Amino acid sequence: AISFSYGESQGGGGETHQVAEGDVAVLTTQQGIPVSDDQNSLKQGARGPTLLEDFHFREKIFHFDHERIPERVVHARGYGAHGYFELTDSLSDVTRADIFQRVGERTPAFVRFSTVAGSKGSFDLARDVRGFAVKVYTQEGNWDLVGNNIPVFFIQDAIKFPDLVHSAKPEPDRNFPQAQTAHDNFWDFISLTPESFHMIMWTMSDRAIPRSYRTMEGFGVHTFRLLDADGKSTFVKFHWKPKQGLQSVVWNEAVKINGADPDFHRRDLWDAINGGDFPEWELGVQLFDDAFADSFDFDILDATKIIPEELVPIRVVGRLVLDRVVDNFFAETEQVAFCTQNVPPGIDFSNDPLLQGRNFSYLDTQIKRLGGPNFTHIPINAPKCPMAHFQQDGHMAMRNPIGRVNYEPNSWGATQGGPREDPVRGAIAFAETAEGPKQRVRSDSFADHYSQARQFFISQTPIEQKHIGDALVFELSKVERPDIRSRTVSHLLNIDARLAATVADGLGLALPDPAVAARPTITDLPASDKLS
Ligand code: HEM
Repeated sequence: AISFSYGESQGGGGETHQVAEGDVAVLTTQQGIPVSDDQNSLKQGARGPTLLEDFHFREKIFHFDHERIPERVVHARGYGAHGYFELTDSLSDVTRADIFQRVGERTPAFVRFSTVAGSKGSFDLARDVRGFAVKVYTQEGNWDLVGNNIPVFFIQDAIKFPDLVHSAKPEPDRNFPQAQTAHDNFWDFISLTPESFHMIMWTMSDRAIPRSYRTMEGFGVHTFRLLDADGKSTFVKFHWKPKQGLQSVVWNEAVKINGADPDFHRRDLWDAINGGDFPEWELGVQLFDDAFADSFDFDILDATKIIPEELVPIRVVGRLVLDRVVDNFFAETEQVAFCTQNVPPGIDFSNDPLLQGRNFSYLDTQIKRLGGPNFTHIPINAPKCPMAHFQQDGHMAMRNPIGRVNYEPNSWGATQGGPREDPVRGAIAFAETAEGPKQRVRSDSFADHYSQARQFFISQTPIEQKHIGDALVFELSKVERPDIRSRTVSHLLNIDARLAATVADGLGLALPDPAVAARPTITDLPASDKLS
């Protein structure tokens, strides 16, 4: 045992030494070597050069030099908390997934909320989509529902994701603007991508400036499948409904909050949970079959479309409660890795081309971001159920196979041979038939880009509609190129004539020729027909 006295003394340079005593831990290196002096490096003589021999100094500085890891390429700024998912209505009629069987059972969960476009150090109240990523540590492996606070997305096909993100991030020569949608590149891409306009209506609405993470809805966005024990499939859309209600701020407030407290959302979540005011969401599902999918006006594989709740009502099946802040931001919130492909048996994918692309993207980016293939060994990412596999080695390997065998099939028998596959309990993909020529062209069923944008706009109250118009005028007023402004407004003509007129007026533009947009429907408008 090493005993130090705890007290303060002055060193030769006037620095304070706080030394260990009683229960106070002894400062050590990463190798556990006790440290005698943490204020002074080892020198040759009082004024001589620092010595390479000082292993404590070298380790401390080298470790510091490596503290940063790449920030997420999107959703870099986020905030996480622990909680649980509790089933309130069994889904055993449609899925074999263990998590959906027993009413009242609680399963641990971790949630990370985020903005999308801003860097890790950006402000919370940007006009932006919010990520709503949920990891549920089920008894059959981790289920990640990597969603947003908006039920649709900008693009239909994952191959467009790098272009979308490049256009939204700071422009490559000047590296601004940071964390906001108001700039030429973003609106250039949007105005050349008509499928984005439904999402644009949502992002220009109050939904994109939430009052709190606690007052946002969450959506899985894509159509997924639920599979029962016989392999029968039911399509599903996932929804999180906040018990706190849905609340946003107005732009004027958002700008002030960003200036006064850029950490507004993370502070709000931290304070609420630490104060015992645990935020809660209901999990709702929209369930439908092939017959509905075939009869629906839009393609259920198209992530730019919703399925109206009037057509397929939401069935509430559970609740998510966040009741514990993290112990360490970096270890948990920063290192957590969500991935759409993490689904337990009984939950499966649809052929949505955005979802299919996401299933590739997340694992790849996380192998880089978290330094290799073993990031599931980090406690926040590790499943909380039994695990056994033959994957081994790589940087930071902490769960290598035990014993002599690291392959299968093998002849080492039940006790030494390691894990075996299980055709009954194992995940089985839905036996979907796929046919047709290989092709890149999208289905015609993905073609209508404006009808649901219009439905969303007209579903808003007059003041909410005005906010959308104001947001478009503000954002587009930051766009320098007149052709990009006009092209954007020409798309609005296909959504709502008053909205287009209001935005054109706000920008001092003549109403553009609707032929500029992909599918013009309105040719003339009375100038007085404005949003009020
Ligand atoms: C990160 C949602 C589309 C690639 C995230 C996060 C969320 C999210 C919530 C943050 C996860 C966290 O908190 O750690 C969505 C939604 C999408 C979508 C709802 C569309 C419906 C895409 C697409 C791609 C993509 C199409 C690529 C093809 C990424 C990447 C990250 C990310 C690379 C960073 C992951 C990491 O570093 O851990 N996404 N995303 N996303 N997303 Fe998406």
